[in-house]
Amino acid sequence: IERTLVLVKPDGVRRGLAGEVLRRVEAKGYTLVGVELVNAKEDLLARHYAEHVGKDFYQPLVDFMMSGPILAVVVEGQRVIEGFRSLAGATDGTLASPGTIRGDFARSWGSKVMQNIVHGSDSPESAAREIALWFPGL
Ligand code: GTP
Ligand code: MG
Repeated sequence: IERTLVLVKPDGVRRGLAGEVLRRVEAKGYTLVGVELVNAKEDLLARHYAEHVGKDFYQPLVDFMMSGPILAVVVEGQRVIEGFRSLAGATDGTLASPGTIRGDFARSWGSKVMQNIVHGSDSPESAAREIALWFPGL
């Protein structure tokens, strides 16, 4: 059985969408195995977003992720990594399909592409790495 790391990003928490995200995850049949509200520090985010270091949106992304609390969630289920990416929808909220979390709740223009409500691990290797970062005890 697989696990993934889901983050409700600061825009999602600010807009009161944390419960909506958890509701969709549970309605799909996945299980919550860890939930914590986190004020993430820069070093955690630097490790979380290591693949994006050096890109032009890296520092704005880290600043955005420090702009308020994040709901960090470990979710378990068969094929949950792919399954949650499917629930989340495309990275760009303007283009994400209606019915997905981003398609239903995120818009994007200019530098706001990063404000897309949720994060979900993109592979088993990423999931293991990210869960160890956000939930060292799990
Ligand atoms: P995550 O689930 O959050 O990892 O999203 P993703 O896998 O769909 O996208 P990716 O890992 O490529 O990028 C991580 C995050 O960086 C995205 O969710 C956005 O918040 C932000 N981001 C990605 N691409 C861009 C971009 O071109 N411009 C800006 N401003 N932000 C971006
Ligand atoms: Mg990603």
